[in-house]
Amino acid sequence: MDADDELCLCFHVSWRKVLNYIRVHRIRTPSQLHECGGAGTGCGWCRKQLERLTALCAENPPSPDAIDGWLRLQTPNKKKYSEGREVYRAKKESDVSRKVESVEEKSEIGLGIPIDSTNESSEHPFDSIQNGGL
Ligand code: FES
Repeated sequence: MDADDELCLCFHVSWRKVLNYIRVHRIRTPSQLHECGGAGTGCGWCRKQLERLTALCAENPPSPDAIDGWLRLQTPNKKKYSEGREVYRAKKESDVSRKVESVEEKSEIGLGIPIDSTNESSEHPFDSIQNGGL
């Protein structure tokens, strides 16, 4: 992936922009990155990458001259990253639909509207990209 490709696909924020924002503003926690063009505030797919980039920069930030090469080593395959987001979003929508159906069923039989959080999966599709999946 190139430095000018998008890290946050929802808000079209590039890897270069995020990295420079981290360096210039001395970001230490990924939540501070919402001010960088809204990165991470949409579907949530890129949040693991924001966390990773923040941690890497805290440990060993690249010099301004070395950003392109450094990012080339740190970024995932562009196609897999984009496809992974589609899988992630589809799964999220499916989970929401299942919860709505569950709430509707419970309401119909008079059990109120408790939301069952035990069905949430902790696996993030990006994990399978890092392990060579997708
Ligand atoms: S890709 Fe960044 S919030 Fe969706």
